[in-house]
Amino acid sequence: MKVTVVGAGNVGATCADVLAQKGVVNEIVLLDIKENYAEGKALDMWEASPVNYFDTRVIGSTNDYSKTAGSDVVVITSGIPRKPGMSRDDLIATNAKIVKMVTEQVIEHSPEAVIVIVSNPLDVMTYAAFLTAKKSRNKVFGMAGVLDTARYRSFLALELDCSPKDIQAVLMGGHGDTMVPLPRYTTVGGIPVTELVSEERINEIVERTKKGGGEIVNLLGTSAWYAPGASAAQMVEAIVKDQKRIFPVCTMLDGEYGMQNIALGVPVKLGKNGIEQVLELKLNKDEMALLEDSAVAVRGVMKTLEDMNLF
Ligand code: LAC
Repeated sequence: MKVTVVGAGNVGATCADVLAQKGVVNEIVLLDIKENYAEGKALDMWEASPVNYFDTRVIGSTNDYSKTAGSDVVVITSGIPRKPGMSRDDLIATNAKIVKMVTEQVIEHSPEAVIVIVSNPLDVMTYAAFLTAKKSRNKVFGMAGVLDTARYRSFLALELDCSPKDIQAVLMGGHGDTMVPLPRYTTVGGIPVTELVSEERINEIVERTKKGGGEIVNLLGTSAWYAPGASAAQMVEAIVKDQKRIFPVCTMLDGEYGMQNIALGVPVKLGKNGIEQVLELKLNKDEMALLEDSAVAVRGVMKTLEDMNLF
């Protein structure tokens, strides 16, 4: 199995490193436009192989997509990250062009690949990649829900002083401040979280989750990478190992939740064919209203993309 990670910045490099360390695939190509940058990071990762005991070959490339040919999965992390005071949506003018260009190159060399978008603003970049790739929606989708639920689960684990492994949750909507964590679908070792944590504290944790990316930007002056990189790697693992895992993923909706022509986070089943099923939950009125608000926010950013006349 061969995986390409486009963008050797913090998120891309972390994703490649996690995949290599776990021995998920036998070959990883890390590609970047910055001269020698991907080569340097790939070599550094490969030099850790005897210590960390993996045999995944990690290869770097400066913008030579022929090295990515025949990839089974391609993760696209290209684009600029946000700085304090910026929302993810502020990145669209720069990142939309980059994501379009990268997707074209990826498709040319790996027409069969499953493509996982990580670039921000995530939902609209997923939509842009879908329009560029002209593949079915099950092969082009975005990573955000795995990261956002990871943040939500990690905060709940702190609250309960329990293992994050035991917290299961689903979260829907866009990868922005309107994302919709769903306490009604959150359990701790099988116990509904609502039986263990007060409504007030759950609400505070939901609010912290929604601004989780911003919390890191404020601390570091740039956006996060450990959790985003690991989350993208977990999606790749589910695909290449055909694990049929249930994750929230940003996918083009085709009537599910009453929505169409929008890429939004919903629970799906991930396996060797990419998205193998979109799961439709019976949301209550309040939850549905929140999802609709999130869709409105994403459509606002889609309007900016349309005004750029790239498609
Ligand atoms: C975050 C960025 C990667 O949420 O969107 O940290």
